[in-house]
Amino acid sequence: MTMTVLLALHIVAATIWVGGMFFAYVILRPAIGGIEPASERPKLWRRVFQRFFLFVSIAVITLIATGYAMLVHVFGGFAGAGIYIHIMHGVGLIMFLAYGHLRFAAWPKFRNAVDAGDFAEAGQRLGLIRKIVAVNLGLGWIAIIAGATGPYWP
Ligand code: HEM
Repeated sequence: MTMTVLLALHIVAATIWVGGMFFAYVILRPAIGGIEPASERPKLWRRVFQRFFLFVSIAVITLIATGYAMLVHVFGGFAGAGIYIHIMHGVGLIMFLAYGHLRFAAWPKFRNAVDAGDFAEAGQRLGLIRKIVAVNLGLGWIAIIAGATGPYWP
């Protein structure tokens, strides 16, 4: 029962985080590419990220907390975990650090630049945000594939 609840929360959190990045990077980014004047784009991203971080911050904390809870309570720690869990854990930690940089360094600087009307600065900050999201999206797929297919590995 405990495992079912933890795993359910873990998966919902993973889909919100990775699905949110997929939507932002693969769908929204190209879709708003041609919007003019160009200053409207960072303004839109500011509103998008404001809501994105609200939900994704909860998802990230839930993902990490439930991951460790399963590891400790169900698998008896790292020694009892399969290689796929170690991969997911390692990838998850890199994603977590990258997310922290995005949330607490890149995002406030981008937001302040937009609020100050400095769209050249905002554009530069957005470039870094885009790279972090691209990397975390790729890592997220690796973690999901490892976590879900791992129990069936030979
Ligand atoms: C601190 C990092 C993490 C830890 C300690 C952790 C731990 C775990 C554990 C113990 C399981 C259960 C494995 C099993 O039932 O055999 C699991 C499943 C899973 N995790 Fe993670 N995880 C972490 C991060 C992530 C991340 C970052 C993602 C994706 C973004 C992710 C996605 C999944 C998925 C898709 C499953 C499999 C669900 C299933 O089909 O049974 N995990 N995780």
